[in-house]
Amino acid sequence: MNQSETQQKLTGLIDRELNSLELPQTPSSLYEPVRYTLNLGGKRIRPYLTLTGCGLCGGEPEEALPAAIAIELLHNFTLLHDDIMDAAETRRGEPSVFRKWDSATAILSGDAMYAWAFEQLQYYGESNQYSKKQYAEIINIFLESARTVCEGQAYDLAFEKQQNVTIDEYLTMIKGKTAALISGAIKLGGAVADVDGNCLNRLKQIGAEIGIAFQIQDDLLDAIADPEKFGKKKGGDIMEGKKTYLSILALEKGSKVQQDLILSVLSRDNVSQEDVENITDIYKSLGIFKQTSDTIEKRYKNALHLVSGFEESEYKNELTELINNLNNREY
Ligand code: IPE
Ligand code: IPE
Ligand code: MG
Ligand code: MG
Ligand code: MG
Repeated sequence: MNQSETQQKLTGLIDRELNSLELPQTPSSLYEPVRYTLNLGGKRIRPYLTLTGCGLCGGEPEEALPAAIAIELLHNFTLLHDDIMDAAETRRGEPSVFRKWDSATAILSGDAMYAWAFEQLQYYGESNQYSKKQYAEIINIFLESARTVCEGQAYDLAFEKQQNVTIDEYLTMIKGKTAALISGAIKLGGAVADVDGNCLNRLKQIGAEIGIAFQIQDDLLDAIADPEKFGKKKGGDIMEGKKTYLSILALEKGSKVQQDLILSVLSRDNVSQEDVENITDIYKSLGIFKQTSDTIEKRYKNALHLVSGFEESEYKNELTELINNLNNREY
């Protein structure tokens, strides 16, 4: 796929900035896992959303770079803690930090990234270009995202023990754990461009649609993706007893026998490969994969529609392209 000049410029800015972050050498037990995590890459979609969001609103994307890096650091921090919570062995195709080191190390390195994110945001407090009000708005967006992710993660954990989770409850959970950060990312771009509250709300809606699609897709990929590409263990959600879009639909649509099997596997401590395959077969027989793909596509379409309401610009084109690419992602 050919990258446009604008896309190259934006990804170049993000990569350069992340590579130029100067991490202290000591204590290495704190900074080595941070370095490890950032070097494993990831898709960097959140910082990209911050920069395109800023451009979409008529701002200068370079100005949104500290906010973009802050949100990527926040995201990486959530991953370190999430992998402990989910007992996930692999992340980005390599051992997760808590597996390679231990939980205490992953907690602390995550905390350091969180603090570091704030250091990035200080730029807006220190530069004369930004009013106190604008700085406060930027900090508020960041903090609201961070706190809402915690709410979503709390639901995620609680739902492991709750048998009858509805799709509405699931949506509340993923709006928190995933969409809040994605909305926050794009809103930060708008805040740097100094747009009004109405426009911030429109950006939030775009982020919500992308975020919901993105998490439902993550649930789907967890069940069907090539682990080599996806970088996470196949069937990890089934093993951990997660309520996902797929398991909730299957519990709604399945026969009593199928429901009982799903619930028994999801509540079991030791889940075998065969258990995972049995559940996946149920998903297949109930048409869950197709229904899930349709929902994902619908949510991305909603996002595209909302983006189409903005003025024409190269950044609008890039955001549109990003959404189309996400719709087809395999990792
Ligand atoms: C993983 O996010 C966490 C979810 C919200 C599903 P990404 O899939 O964006 O992770 P990286 O940064 O590309 O590895
Ligand atoms: C994503 O939830 C939300 C956060 C990481 C905060 P998942 O637990 O599904 O994410 P992955 O699949 O581990 O990346
Ligand atoms: Mg996880
Ligand atoms: Mg999780
Ligand atoms: Mg997942």
